[in-house]
Amino acid sequence: DKGTYRHYMLKEIYEQPQAIQRTLEDRIQANHRIQPHAFGTQAPDIFEKIKHIQIIACGTSYHAGYVARYWFESIAGISCNVEVASEYRYRQSVLPENTLFVTISQSGETADTLAALREAKKKGIFASLCICNVPTSTLVRESDLAFITHAGPEIGVASTKAFTTQLVALMLLVVSVAKVRGLELAREQQIVQQLQSLPVILDSVLAMDKAIERIAEEFGEKHHTLFLGRGAHYPVAMEGALKLKEISYIHAEAYPAGELKHGPLALVDHDMPVVAVAPNNDLIDKLKSNLQEVRARAGELYVFADSKVHITPEIGLKVFAMPSVSDDIAPIVYTVPLQLLSYHVAVIRGTDVDQPRNLAKSVTVE
Ligand code: M6R
Repeated sequence: DKGTYRHYMLKEIYEQPQAIQRTLEDRIQANHRIQPHAFGTQAPDIFEKIKHIQIIACGTSYHAGYVARYWFESIAGISCNVEVASEYRYRQSVLPENTLFVTISQSGETADTLAALREAKKKGIFASLCICNVPTSTLVRESDLAFITHAGPEIGVASTKAFTTQLVALMLLVVSVAKVRGLELAREQQIVQQLQSLPVILDSVLAMDKAIERIAEEFGEKHHTLFLGRGAHYPVAMEGALKLKEISYIHAEAYPAGELKHGPLALVDHDMPVVAVAPNNDLIDKLKSNLQEVRARAGELYVFADSKVHITPEIGLKVFAMPSVSDDIAPIVYTVPLQLLSYHVAVIRGTDVDQPRNLAKSVTVE
């Protein structure tokens, strides 16, 4: 039931604060530590032995894995690769010793993801873990360890709350792995408290809806857009671009902002809006100079920036003040305005938002 919402997608965007609360429920102790068995009773023993992480997924779930890769390496200090299932499964890959094979899937029925897991099992992986929204799914059945996101049913073909809850689940996994590798107690509690603050923070981001709806008009007639981010916000930009493509049928491409001058800058002109996410981290000055490169070519910029970052709006440069959040949870927070932007652009273009052409909710074919 859509309730008062015009589309399931909008309802599911708005459900994210509660969905994240459900993901955290029963996984956190009163002292802001993660339950030792949040990933299953055998998990701590397995985590002790792993030396590498291989993440496999498709589409939006792949983007969640891509964000987590940054977290695994920076927070847990463990090497991590991420690849789309349809490539991995047909490739002669080398599996490092004691690899934890992590699959991510909303449905748990995506054919390529299942096939990649089966391929990896044949090669003799050390252990498999899935992050999934459907407890009765094939993926959950076939994995050694399973973590259910509890996002609730997602009806819109465009994945929204499944993605942000996957990110929360992945951060819990990263911290659980980091703990056995010596993460300090205070750091664990700090990250957990940040995750617990997400519902309130996301409510404040959802309050930007009207402002985002107003600028969506400016995208209605465009044919191409560019999404920019750096670090863990590059996959956030990829997810923003996928959302726009999928439901508004506007061509959208994501680039790590530092790659602009290696090619895509040639495309930038007045007719191609450029959307950038600018959290307050140590890459912000680099990102600002990338934005200058766009302005110098008359590119129209839409920047979602931490309210503590000073970017002065001017003609052709619109700035949306985002709540100031730490780098740990920023990818989750910055995802939401991009979902809202795609949604409103699609509504303006009159597409079938919940059932975009040519797409199925669950891709059970190869
Ligand atoms: O159910 P899964 O998470 O395995 O699905 C993977 C993709 O098919 C899915 O995320 C797809 O990209 C979405 N339509 C994106 O919004």
